[in-house]
Amino acid sequence: MIVVVKIGGALIAENFDNVVNDITNIHQNHSDKYKLVIVHGGGPQINELLRQMNKEPKYFKTPSGFRTRYTDQEAIDVAIMTLGGKNNKRLVEALQKRDINAFGFTGIDGGIIEAKRKEKILVMINDKRIMKHGEYSGKVKSVHTELLQYLLEMNYLPVIGSLGKSEKGEIVNLDGDRAASYIANALGAEILISLTDVEGIYKDFEDKNSLIQNIKRYQLEHLMEQLAGGMKKKAYAALEALDMKIQTVIISSGLGDNPIYNALEKETGTVISNE
Ligand SMILES: Nc1ncnc2c1ncn2[C@@H]1O[C@H](COP(=O)(O)OP(=O)(O)OP(=O)(O)O)[C@@H](O)[C@H]1O
Ligand SMILES: [Mg+2]
Repeated sequence: MIVVVKIGGALIAENFDNVVNDITNIHQNHSDKYKLVIVHGGGPQINELLRQMNKEPKYFKTPSGFRTRYTDQEAIDVAIMTLGGKNNKRLVEALQKRDINAFGFTGIDGGIIEAKRKEKILVMINDKRIMKHGEYSGKVKSVHTELLQYLLEMNYLPVIGSLGKSEKGEIVNLDGDRAASYIANALGAEILISLTDVEGIYKDFEDKNSLIQNIKRYQLEHLMEQLAGGMKKKAYAALEALDMKIQTVIISSGLGDNPIYNALEKETGTVISNE
């Protein structure tokens, strides 16, 4: 079965050796059972590079309570450097060092991910709704899988940075989790795993005893308004995946040993299922 694994930027910032070792083990020893496709983000690295350039990352709250980046011209340039450059190639390098034939690219390459550009975003500033123009982010419309299927057949490991191609051919920034949902759906993946820097979804993030182990789609929908930050977006992307053809989404920590294998075999983390 095809398994799409999203590796969060938060995780890449910490330590991805155990994730890369885990991918290596699955690719080398369990490829008869699992075929992996990696999708990655890069939020923290984009911010770090912006700051090195003396630019402050710009975030706003949307009227519906999501925290969103304002991806202006400068931010999209840095997103290209990060998602199409360092994050992508460091992951490919780490896998190549372990004799895995990783093939890195983004959704603009080969026009693989077609997206609708949001040219403006509605945000809240001092309780007022303000329209910000010049936005370079997008929502996935379709994913072309021919090349991906070919890479999988030839035993390459696809590593995809979350950029897409707009209707006008521009590069747009994509939410990594939502891109992973659409890629998983287009490939007919059964499982989507989102590896992050926390154990899963906490009912109450302040209460470390409130980790959710199993949750059904409709229950997560009810929990949405209690979630915040990156997890709210991740949960939304999980709902989107389940609304398409994916049966199971697992949100789990990538910080321990064998995070993907354990999520697949032992269902560690938060397992979200349809029905
Ligand atoms: N209820 C909650 N349960 C778990 N995490 C939560 C919750 N509320 C907020 N969070 C935050 O969500 C974060 C995970 O989302 P985040 O978007 O930061 O990571 P990521 O998706 O792995 O990385 P990236 O977005 O850079 O690809 C956690 O580190 C945590 O701080
Ligand atoms: Mg995130």
